[in-house]
Amino acid sequence: MSSHIHTSHESVASGFTETASDYDDAVRFNIEGAQRLVLTIPPGRYERVLDVGCGTGWATQATIDRFHPTHITAIDPADGMLAQFREKFAGAAGVEIVVHQADVEHMPVEEGSFDLVVCSMAYHWFPRKWEAAKAMARALKPGGVIAILMSGRGGEQAYRDVIANIEPINYRWLGAFDGNLRSCSEMEDYLTGAGLEPVDIWMETRTRHTSVDAYMERMRVVAGHMIGDQSDAEVADYVAKIEARLRELAGPRGWRYDFAKLFAIARKPT
Ligand SMILES: C[S@@+](CC[C@H](N)C(=O)[O-])C[C@H]1O[C@@H](n2cnc3c(N)ncnc32)[C@H](O)[C@@H]1O
Repeated sequence: MSSHIHTSHESVASGFTETASDYDDAVRFNIEGAQRLVLTIPPGRYERVLDVGCGTGWATQATIDRFHPTHITAIDPADGMLAQFREKFAGAAGVEIVVHQADVEHMPVEEGSFDLVVCSMAYHWFPRKWEAAKAMARALKPGGVIAILMSGRGGEQAYRDVIANIEPINYRWLGAFDGNLRSCSEMEDYLTGAGLEPVDIWMETRTRHTSVDAYMERMRVVAGHMIGDQSDAEVADYVAKIEARLRELAGPRGWRYDFAKLFAIARKPT
């Protein structure tokens, strides 16, 4: 796990770059998440699509499969994720795909030029969520639709309870959850604050069982960079303590945890 100091969106991006090649295997749930997000978009003709925080491209793939757009712009600050994305779509036919290495607040896209903005499992990483919503709203044409999937408030509580008692207490790692997870009403405020009309916002909470190994790997891939600025040896020691505690707590069906996914669909007024 990285020992770099990570304090901004650049650090989130470098964290995702370090783990990009492991992402598709470790976070299989996000494939289904992206597909379900795209399924919830109101039927319509969406020619020009913007995928924000595109990662390795699952939301882009789901959008192509359902809406057959003519153009997709995909943005992500993590060059490692973009390398996976480019490889995946190198042979894509019938759709123009433009990729930019960029942060949500600095997307090199024309205002009012997209019929659909998708943002799957990235919004929780945006350090300025009000500004992010505004930036995505600006990119939409009047009447355009935005579809967001993010981690919801209430998830991962069992893990948070574990790390709250691993010493020395890692306040940064603990605080990452409060910095990321959001409720439906908070999402509604971001969307209306950006001048959008919420159509549907909902949360799904699931209880999952998984192996401790798989859970630790998922945390490493999606959020290991949040552990902090200790040496590699200190991080390894800290992670080993977490793992040992999860093994103590895991039952015969593995580690049990709740995961909350927040979905939001909104439209830009005409
Ligand atoms: C969990 S991945 C999700 C990727 C993909 N959308 C999916 O559904 O699998 C989160 C992505 O958000 C990107 N990201 C993090 N901070 C960002 C920011 N400030 N602006 C845009 N993208 C960001 C990361 O680099 C990463 O690729």
